[in-house]
Amino acid sequence: TLAADFVVVSNRLPVDRSDDENEPWRRSPGGLVAALEPVIQASGGAWVGWPGQPDIEIDPFDFDGMSLVPVALTADDVELYYEGFSNDTIWPLYHDVISPPAYHRVWWDSYVRVNRAFAEAAASVAAPEATVWVHDYQLQLVPRMLRELRPDLVIGYFHHIPFPAYGIYAQLPWRRQVLEGLLGADVIGFQRVQDAGNFARAVRRQLGFETKAGSIRVPVGGGRDRVAISKAYPISIDVATYDELARRPDVQARVQEIRESLGSPDTILFGVDRLDYTKGITHRLKAYGELLVEHRLEVEDVTLVQVASPSRERVVAYMQLRDEIELTVGRINGDHDTVGHTAIRYLHHSYPREEMVALYLAADVMLVTALRDGMNLVAKEYIASRVDNRGVLVLSEFTGAADELTQAVKVNPHDIEGLKDAIVQAIQMPPAEQSRRMRALRRRVRDHDVSDWSRGFLTDLDRARARGHRS
Ligand code: G6P
Repeated sequence: TLAADFVVVSNRLPVDRSDDENEPWRRSPGGLVAALEPVIQASGGAWVGWPGQPDIEIDPFDFDGMSLVPVALTADDVELYYEGFSNDTIWPLYHDVISPPAYHRVWWDSYVRVNRAFAEAAASVAAPEATVWVHDYQLQLVPRMLRELRPDLVIGYFHHIPFPAYGIYAQLPWRRQVLEGLLGADVIGFQRVQDAGNFARAVRRQLGFETKAGSIRVPVGGGRDRVAISKAYPISIDVATYDELARRPDVQARVQEIRESLGSPDTILFGVDRLDYTKGITHRLKAYGELLVEHRLEVEDVTLVQVASPSRERVVAYMQLRDEIELTVGRINGDHDTVGHTAIRYLHHSYPREEMVALYLAADVMLVTALRDGMNLVAKEYIASRVDNRGVLVLSEFTGAADELTQAVKVNPHDIEGLKDAIVQAIQMPPAEQSRRMRALRRRVRDHDVSDWSRGFLTDLDRARARGHRS
């Protein structure tokens, strides 16, 4: 049996079960995995999570220097807890109701049950007084459940997505239980200062607890209380990995191949997202399509490469979005393609990191037009890949990344005219200005990489431990 001093808990394990016998485990998608992998490897800890498919019951195993502890979910759990409550209630609600959240009591019941299973798994592998770091919106009840099972543990929680304003949050029928769940942690981390503020306001309004400068007084009975810290820790990427890949000769050769296979246009525009309604893909397509109609752009000179990686494909809102995107792409291409040139090269796949870096290096303009995004690591990956100090990032102000990446061309993706102007501005930006902006952006990303993020969070968790032992 395991007794780990450091335990990460997240909905997904860093690997997914595959049907390929030669490679039964594959790295799973999403920013969370890319961000945490270096941390868990360095600490030699355990990672508790779901293997990505229903009804897989297996014992803990080692993978790439990590002890992985699978939590089995039934097909019902996947439908009600994952697709339902996590991704059709909390996800749309926390992203400012871009898509209407559905509230179903059976989904909530399943969320409670599955959160308890995760808390029990973590409780069973954590050594006495271990540090446990819980991640993201699928597991908001785990901190409190875990504290009840194991009061000896030091518990952190990091929220990777936005925390909405109270007026939106208040829709949630279980708003009180979720706040109480989160407050089981000693440190509750958010991406933006704005998110931490929204959380503190919700705690004040809903629970009436006292909050001051990032400290929340949580009553523990008998007139006593403990302090929970709530603060912003903007997440980042492993910059060195992107830097190294971008300098590799085979990757650079691939950049040339990509340009040529697109008919060597003057300008390549690039978008890459999970196929998700929060990402503003349709807004981006609309702006680009109008620029072609108005002849402010010509299909001989410019191509948009849009990678939309498959995501949450059994949730109806995602199926509808896919249809809408594919209809729009088909229309724009049908109207503007020539035999030799395509307006949009649409790719419904996900790609390995090498190929992503080659695409970033081929992209003269990177389009990040999310309507709401906790951070958006694509923006940071693009910057980390531009070892040539060229390229322009067009970035939505509704992303966490916008707080840090101030030299990007900022856009409000709802303002289609503004988005069109920003795209044209980015295409026409003189090389000297591209490089001035890119150097500043690269400095910022280099100085705040994923190890700074985890160190910052874990330092505050250590302080919480020290405080706990004093009292
Ligand atoms: C976002 C969330 C992660 C999630 C990832 C992929 O980055 O913050 O928690 O893992 O999307 O989504 P999925 O539903 O496939 O895990």
